[in-house]
Amino acid sequence: MTINIKSAEDIEAMRHACRLASEVLDYIAPHIKPGITTKEIDRLGAECMAQQGTISATVGYQPPGYPPYPASLCTSVNHVVCHGIPNDKPLKKGDIVNVDVTVITKDGWYGDNSRMYLIGECSIAAKRLSAVTFEAMWHGILQVKPGARLGDIGHAIQKFAEGHGFSVVREFCGHGIGQKFHEEPQVLHYGRPGTLEELQPGMVFTIEPMINAGKRDVKNHGNDGWTIVTKDHSLSAQWEHTVLVTPTGYEVMTLSAGSPPLPSFVTATRT
Ligand code: MF3
Ligand code: CO
Ligand code: CO
Repeated sequence: MTINIKSAEDIEAMRHACRLASEVLDYIAPHIKPGITTKEIDRLGAECMAQQGTISATVGYQPPGYPPYPASLCTSVNHVVCHGIPNDKPLKKGDIVNVDVTVITKDGWYGDNSRMYLIGECSIAAKRLSAVTFEAMWHGILQVKPGARLGDIGHAIQKFAEGHGFSVVREFCGHGIGQKFHEEPQVLHYGRPGTLEELQPGMVFTIEPMINAGKRDVKNHGNDGWTIVTKDHSLSAQWEHTVLVTPTGYEVMTLSAGSPPLPSFVTATRT
């Protein structure tokens, strides 16, 4: 396995790409309320990217065995785990939606992030799932430092999520990112401490746990080739940041003015 180590110059370019990816979510946020369709969210995302001079990494994205992805971002509502395709159905009070945005800058660098949005007043269960998933992501981030291993990240996320009675999706993981959308390593959101690849300064990857309220099993939904749902139809949540391994710890790259406040157990966005 060869994990690309970013130079100081690469890291500057990634900071820029990641800030822009985060600002797309900021741009969309005030519009996400009951009645908006996920297609309209997609249109707003595309509008923001056009203003930035970035392009969406997802439009036309086609890994082997998949049809080309048809939208500028992903919108995964309620029991949709990931890769939901924007459509004409209005969001309604009580829905939860993940919006996942990946941009490519003019100089070819990728920034990838996602957030959950609660539509109007939501059930206590839905709010708890979103909050626990956010905190699970941060428990993973807190593991990031030179000498730690990928298994430490997965374990921290799994322990926290399962400790709250939720389950961790196994089929999708975080990923290295840079001048490609998905690079090595795979960043599993479950695992054993002290296992897998050792982290080194200059590695950049995403941490993006998908956590289910019910069982961890997922399935393909219908025939669009993309949408993944929970098998038991339970709610699913996801948060995503792109993270740099620094000489002393981590730097969360996908932060902007609209990023949610840090959990109480986190003291810094970079260490
Ligand atoms: N942004 C997603 C990720 O975090 C990937 C979406 S691929 C798409 O890796 F084609 F579904 F958009
Ligand atoms: Co990602
Ligand atoms: Co993403």
